[in-house]
Amino acid sequence: MSPAMVMSEQRNYDSTPEFQYQKGVKHMYENGIEHVPNKYILPASERPNVVINSEKSSHVPQMSVQLPIIDFAELQGPNRTQVLESLSYACQNYGFFQLVNHGIPDEIMNEMVNVSKRFFEMPFSEREKYMSTDMSSPVRYGTSFNQTNDGVFCWRDFLKLSCHPLPETLPYWPTSPLDFRQLAVTYAKENKYLFLMLVEAILESLGLKNKEKKTKFEAKNENDDDDYIEEILKEFEDGSQLMVVNCYPPCPEPDLTLGMPPHSDYGFLTLLQQDEVKGLQIQHQDKWVTIQPIPGSFVVNVGDHLEIFSNGKYKSVLHRVLVNSMKHRISVASLHSLPFANTVRPSPKLIDETNPRLYKDTDFASFLQYAKSCDSSKKNFIQSRKLDQS
Ligand code: OGA
Ligand code: NI
Repeated sequence: MSPAMVMSEQRNYDSTPEFQYQKGVKHMYENGIEHVPNKYILPASERPNVVINSEKSSHVPQMSVQLPIIDFAELQGPNRTQVLESLSYACQNYGFFQLVNHGIPDEIMNEMVNVSKRFFEMPFSEREKYMSTDMSSPVRYGTSFNQTNDGVFCWRDFLKLSCHPLPETLPYWPTSPLDFRQLAVTYAKENKYLFLMLVEAILESLGLKNKEKKTKFEAKNENDDDDYIEEILKEFEDGSQLMVVNCYPPCPEPDLTLGMPPHSDYGFLTLLQQDEVKGLQIQHQDKWVTIQPIPGSFVVNVGDHLEIFSNGKYKSVLHRVLVNSMKHRISVASLHSLPFANTVRPSPKLIDETNPRLYKDTDFASFLQYAKSCDSSKKNFIQSRKLDQS
């Protein structure tokens, strides 16, 4: 058979039973796929290495950027004020930062990635048990970005675990590998605690909390502020938490597809643990830049809900994932926000005559409705929540 024939057969095997793309990319990879099927090929303008000038080389050098680094231990010490300023700068100008010295032991971090790898290494018949298209299911195994809507599929399989309320969701989590539940629960609890500490810092960085009390009058107002912060923190304690384990197997033609299309995260904050394989890119100053993994750290990003809550001061930034032809990549994203029943709105304390309200009230139901009905990639959702749509 001529190479051209082999290629066209492979590209069209979407419909043959052994390569049904609904089974995901790990399954295809295990079946020794040599070409990316048509279903995964992006239009030329959306591919990862779009060549801007017409040089012969088909690769643009990938730009890397050093994200602002926030030292969590320092945030808890005497330099808190300076660290809060860096935090605010990062949330306004990057929508992202790397969190180091966060206090979650390396062992818990490593074990989570390790058990995730072992989960995806299990036979497809075992993984398949958790497949569901029900967005509200406490456990959901699947592929691509939005499996039922995506015109072009992306090179990613995932396991989504709903972590709240844990006593209700845990019984649905995978029972194999045998240590999966125990390791994932430990990780989820540590992650939640860290998130709550970060929210407190974020609220403070937005100027919603004042530590030093000066006059009696100020002291009274500051107590009000502290009550306000306490109330918000209480809501977050009971907030939603979704853990997304992403698996990106090697891809034979990584220039034709993406691991995840450009999107923003819907929640308040996402804490992402990436393994040592790079792939995450964020949009920064109109360019796609690669985030270098820092072992043991979290990449933290502002989600749509925090953009709304901060009335646009902090930005939920577009990001995407590249794949490569050599290495498997695993990442664990923890998305945190308010309880599902709550409404997200700009904080009244950040709105006045000079800072008019920019976003509508937003609830989870309208987000889910939106995510189901249309292409939820890009920043379409948050765009639809703006009061001035121009
Ligand atoms: C996500 C995400 C990035 C990555 O899960 O929302 O953006 O590197 N993941 O896997
Ligand atoms: Ni994301």
